[in-house]
Amino acid sequence: MNVAAKTDQAGANDRDRALRERAQRVIPGGMWGHMNAARLPPEYPQYFAKAEGARIWDVNGRDYVDFMCAWGPMVLGYRDPDVEAAVRTQSALGDSLNGPSERLVELAERLAGTIPHCDWSLLAKNGTDATTICLSVARAGTGKRKVLIAHKAYHGAAPWCTPYPAGTLPEDRAHQIFYDYNDAASLEQAAAEAGDDLAAIIATAMRHDIGRDHELVDRRFAETARAICDRTGAALILDDVRAGFRLHLGGSWERAGVRPDLSAFSKAIANGYALAAVTGADRFREAATKIFTTGSFWFQAIPMAAALATLDKLHALDGPALMERAGLRFRQGIQAQAQSHGVKIRQSGPPQMPLILFEDDPEVTKSKFFCVEALKRGVYLHPVHTMFLSCAHTDAEIDRALEATDGAFAAVAAKFG
Ligand SMILES: Cc1ncc(COP(=O)(O)O)c(C=O)c1O
Repeated sequence: MNVAAKTDQAGANDRDRALRERAQRVIPGGMWGHMNAARLPPEYPQYFAKAEGARIWDVNGRDYVDFMCAWGPMVLGYRDPDVEAAVRTQSALGDSLNGPSERLVELAERLAGTIPHCDWSLLAKNGTDATTICLSVARAGTGKRKVLIAHKAYHGAAPWCTPYPAGTLPEDRAHQIFYDYNDAASLEQAAAEAGDDLAAIIATAMRHDIGRDHELVDRRFAETARAICDRTGAALILDDVRAGFRLHLGGSWERAGVRPDLSAFSKAIANGYALAAVTGADRFREAATKIFTTGSFWFQAIPMAAALATLDKLHALDGPALMERAGLRFRQGIQAQAQSHGVKIRQSGPPQMPLILFEDDPEVTKSKFFCVEALKRGVYLHPVHTMFLSCAHTDAEIDRALEATDGAFAAVAAKFG
């Protein structure tokens, strides 16, 4: 009997389990990376069948109001009709060609018109591509080596930044000096340590380390980063991969009044189509022409058409404000429920990128229990990672989610008192 036939016998009702068993034989560890459901409680599905708006269906046919948005990309909602129409139009013309389509120039113009610090852009596929290119441009432009990085910040999965260093070398992380996010004094100290060899400061849009209360960027910290770069000629790199286009369409530090020299975007830029962008100021234009960076699929026209449609619609809807309102409705509902059940929680992050943690919960046992109870009632939350709202999170979807979380809080109160 072949593997597929054997797993069919595992039962049509548990396609997820059957797929996991098949995967164990042909995929290392059964799954890799951030989407490995083994990092979550066992009740979480690994495999999904379809999605629409703010809803996602697992392969067992259960649907959830989704608060992960494919870990960020779905900013307008799954299968947004305007983005899908742009994709169909481009698909009829072509995607991978011998060179880019006109969409490339249109998109670079659109980014320059949308993001105040952006005079030029380079496109790639993943956030890691974009943050890595930013470092190369900074080093090519300054001729210097040292990069200041926040402790525990996530900038991607390349050898220089992966949080799991198996298979990497200490040399991959040479010339890195660490500071504490939002701590201007520690940034100054790291800059002093770099001396006259400082190429760049890289910072995420906000502090969003796993399992820790999220923090918006502190204005004084952002201004200090800008001042150090102005003083030394180093590049200020904003890693806007996770937050980009959710907090502000001009870049997430616009809210703090500080503009970077280089930014890395990906996730939400094309509503789920594979695209990343490095945006840069004129000062680093020449450096960006010197580095060689490319990829077989980096010039595909469909994701660029999707990005143009996504940015148009985010502007038309005022997406960040819409998501903020939806996130506030959710946050206020969650706070009222926690209080009414006598459960102590901490909510952090901007409303459109929320995190819910529980007091007296060092092993995140309560968080995980709460999320499983919500999952059973049709809401997909994450116990320790940034969550994401989309423009498809209507009042009705938020209210449906809140019905489920009320039951989940009742279960937490009953179990943990
Ligand atoms: C802040 C930040 N930078 C970089 C990355 C890496 O992006 P990607 O997974 O698309 O390579 C991520 C991904 O979660 C991220 O959140």
